[in-house]
Amino acid sequence: MTETAIAASGLRKTFGDKVVLDGIDLEVPAGTIFSLLGPNGAGKTTTVNLLTTLMKADGGTARVAGHDLATEAKAVRAAIGVTGQFAAVDELLTGQENLRLMVDLNRNARGGERIVTELLERFDLVESAKKQASTYSGGMRRKLDLAMTLVGNPRIIFLDEPTTGLDPRSRRTMWSIIRELVADGVTIFLTTQYLEEADQLADRIAVLDQGHLVAQGTADELKRQMPGTHVRLRFTTVAELDAAARIFPGATRDDETPALRVPSDGGTKSLRSLLDRLDEYSIAAEEFSVHTPDLDDVFLALTGHSSTEAKK
Ligand SMILES: Nc1ncnc2c1ncn2[C@@H]1O[C@H](COP(=O)(O)OP(=O)(O)OP(=O)(O)O)[C@@H](O)[C@H]1O
Ligand SMILES: [Mg+2]
Repeated sequence: MTETAIAASGLRKTFGDKVVLDGIDLEVPAGTIFSLLGPNGAGKTTTVNLLTTLMKADGGTARVAGHDLATEAKAVRAAIGVTGQFAAVDELLTGQENLRLMVDLNRNARGGERIVTELLERFDLVESAKKQASTYSGGMRRKLDLAMTLVGNPRIIFLDEPTTGLDPRSRRTMWSIIRELVADGVTIFLTTQYLEEADQLADRIAVLDQGHLVAQGTADELKRQMPGTHVRLRFTTVAELDAAARIFPGATRDDETPALRVPSDGGTKSLRSLLDRLDEYSIAAEEFSVHTPDLDDVFLALTGHSSTEAKK
């Protein structure tokens, strides 16, 4: 049996008469990465704020680490770590001092100075440990911020856009740190605007658009929901292409290659029947590949606009 780390049902939040979250249902098994994916203003930070007790919901219920959000907020807080969208680093302190401060503030912190050294090493911040955080690059600041979250050894961590603004290398570093945490059994609730990030990291993805979850599933499940998934068959001769095009009337021809794109959900059942049909007509394809659209296509299909398109 898998334990549930986070479960929310019908979460609602309004600011004035603006409905920002309109009934969010989600479930995150312990030890997995859940990614909330959405464009600017979708409601990602609001969801994190509700689930981390920083804000009160106007409706719905949620349990985090087995505790009710509304009635056991203190227990929830003790079980979680939060790295907010904007770094909680004190600019005037050095990296080391920031970490020490967290150790002093945190009742769960084990090991005092040892944990500070350990985290500086783990996050590759030893060299800059004694420099003021104001001199850190964006990536170093994000790392220090996450290191500070880890001081209390939380089993559930909320990361609100941990890699926004980072260069590809720093992003990869952050990804590997996140993967290590999950390998240690930590549950990660991650928000991101990057489809690739959700695709790379998350066990499950929920797509948030204007306060609604428009889809949930694994990256592959989301990709498969798309009408655009297809099988590409490459042939050596146009004659073979002609023959194949006759048995798959819904397919699109590419006479130049020559190749045929056959719409398919990419599941084993439909792939088998496709291959059986080729066999039946004694048609051999030179190459056979399944093309699933990327998450950007998914976002467009689900919401009618692209993930990066500015929304009012
Ligand atoms: N305290 C607040 N008062 C009024 N409106 C708010 C408040 N906080 C958020 N909102 C509104 O709620 C909506 C969702 O905001 P939220 O910060 O949750 O989005 P987000 O998905 O985190 O966006 P981003 O990717 O830009 O961080 C926005 O329209 C925002 O203007
Ligand atoms: Mg946000």
